[in-house]
Amino acid sequence: MSKLTKFLRQLKVRRLRRSIDPRHMLRRRLADYVLDYGFEIGDFSGGAPVIRFFGAGKLKVGKYSSIAEGATFVIAGEHPTDTVTSYMLGYSFPEGGMSPENRGLRGPDIVLGSDVWIASNALIRSGVTIGDGAVVGLGAVVIDDIPPYSVVVGNPARVISKRFPNEMIAELLELRWWDLPPAQVESLRALLEGRDIEAFLVACRQCRGLPPKDRAQPQSPPKRLAVVAPSDRAPESPRTHDARRPGPWTEAAISSWCVSYLATLMDVPAERIDVNMTFEKRSTSRSRRTRSPTTPRSPPWRAISRIASMRTRAPDDAWRG
Ligand SMILES: CC(C)(COP(=O)(O)OP(=O)(O)OC[C@H]1O[C@@H](n2cnc3c(N)ncnc32)[C@H](O)[C@@H]1OP(=O)(O)O)[C@@H](O)C(=O)NCCC(=O)NCCS
Repeated sequence: MSKLTKFLRQLKVRRLRRSIDPRHMLRRRLADYVLDYGFEIGDFSGGAPVIRFFGAGKLKVGKYSSIAEGATFVIAGEHPTDTVTSYMLGYSFPEGGMSPENRGLRGPDIVLGSDVWIASNALIRSGVTIGDGAVVGLGAVVIDDIPPYSVVVGNPARVISKRFPNEMIAELLELRWWDLPPAQVESLRALLEGRDIEAFLVACRQCRGLPPKDRAQPQSPPKRLAVVAPSDRAPESPRTHDARRPGPWTEAAISSWCVSYLATLMDVPAERIDVNMTFEKRSTSRSRRTRSPTTPRSPPWRAISRIASMRTRAPDDAWRG
């Protein structure tokens, strides 16, 4: 490229950059790629990514997406790995020209949805699609597509949670708030920055002119139970023993305490619970061997906490599934 062509190109890029609304920060920043390689950057997206561009493909970003400094997009540049050499002989012997660079099945484009957050130093491989609302954690290495509204971390990036329950995600994807006119988005700002997703969905439906949706009554939050271990006082009777009242560390007391605890957890009368609990350790561990018959055993905390988590954990498809 001659000096004059270079200069003219720079002028063109500068003019394009100046013509872009500063609120569309990412498009402004990548103006040269937009001009030369047709990168498609949505309105209001921002960030400071590193682009490693190898001459094919493009980066497509939706609206309102944030890309932290140091996040790197590697676009094309996949050497063949199934040929005798992975070296690009075209570099050294240009007469034959370059062989096609991308021999993989996927195209080299990287596609980001809207409202995506890519954290610092994440690495995104060519050909990957990252769904709307997804979050890519600090330093993650993304080599596969990421479903909408999931949070991924690690190398290779894996989904650690979903941002919202599935039905909410479906509604968010249907409503596509990012496609609303900016004035409406601004009017929804408090809700967008809030944590009341239901309220946001209702307001967003109104903005879109859609009829209100029949919503299931919000479930009451799981009961938080005070778990107090029995102490050295005798319980009145094994079956009617109050979980919160102290008792001695006899096996019967622990058993009745567990029964009443389970009854409270499951909201059923204690009489309906028929469990044969045994707290004996199976192995002859050191503690078992050295324990005298009169020493009280510790309560089955692990089993109880597992039961408690079964009750209080959201179902698989729910929040942070
Ligand atoms: C991805 C991120 C948003 C997740 O936050 P979170 O939902 O609060 O997740 P948690 O901190 O509860 O972590 C959940 C699990 O993921 C792991 N984890 C979180 N971030 C991780 C990361 N970047 N890499 C590897 N593992 C990570 C945690 O160790 C934890 O594992 P565990 O359940 O086995 O203990 C956050 O960790 C992150 O990377 N923030 C980026 C900040 C940043 O780069 N800002 C730049 C300015 S934009």
